[in-house]
Amino acid sequence: MSESTLKQGEHDQIGVYERTGAIYEEYRYGSKYRKGYFNIRSEALARLLDTQASGGAMSVVEIGCGTGITLEYLSRTSPNLQLHGIDISQEMLEQAEARFADAKSAPELKLGSVFELPYEDDSFDALYATRFIHQFTQAEKLLIYREFERIVRPGGSIIVEFYGNRFHQEKKEAGRYREKFPDKQDVDEVIGGDYQVIPVSFRGGMRIGEWFGELPLRVILKTLRALRFHRAINEYFAVSRSPAGEKS
Ligand SMILES: C[S@@+](CC[C@H](N)C(=O)[O-])C[C@H]1O[C@@H](n2cnc3c(N)ncnc32)[C@H](O)[C@@H]1O
Repeated sequence: MSESTLKQGEHDQIGVYERTGAIYEEYRYGSKYRKGYFNIRSEALARLLDTQASGGAMSVVEIGCGTGITLEYLSRTSPNLQLHGIDISQEMLEQAEARFADAKSAPELKLGSVFELPYEDDSFDALYATRFIHQFTQAEKLLIYREFERIVRPGGSIIVEFYGNRFHQEKKEAGRYREKFPDKQDVDEVIGGDYQVIPVSFRGGMRIGEWFGELPLRVILKTLRALRFHRAINEYFAVSRSPAGEKS
């Protein structure tokens, strides 16, 4: 396979995805817990997008869409969304293309990098990214968010899943660990404005999910959301609005 000429982040691991694309889903979403987590995460995402669309058509792009598993979920639950996906890995994208080979209306998929998104300003009503942003340094996240704001029309949703082990907690370590698990201050800096936090997993959930399945995960999450008990959050969606004004 030829080297990618697309712009990569400092820690980007395209090679890993090129090698493991075919087994990614089994590895990432195959276990009892991970299936439950995927369903809960996708349901929360669909609800956010459907609320914005309120029954009308809406264009949505997934950044780092990988094998297209979430795009497929949304194409089933929310047929009014016009879906697009982009990913830097040819192998992951091929998995996505194969999944929609027989679909009546497939998402528009593109090979490309988040650092040079091949979309015009204000192209989309909404954007989302799952298991994506943790791959980048804080400085890169800042650039990436400005790129998100460029391609989403003012007022459109930007929905990004963060790994939040240390959300609202002290910064214990510097470097890569902190980049993967940014604290609230880091996330505030990246987003640069108001955002809503929607938890999609919690600490200790994996053990509960593997033993007892999806239902207790849902019940506990609902309680944590109601109590706004952010200390217990693992992954969460940060939901912001693309601001009005000059696009850079
Ligand atoms: C952990 S996977 C997540 C895939 C999918 N979003 C999910 O939730 O399962 C990370 C994805 O980001 C893609 N990616 C990594 N760096 C990228 C970049 N610079 N631009 C676009 N996609 C990138 C990888 O190829 C991979 O498909």
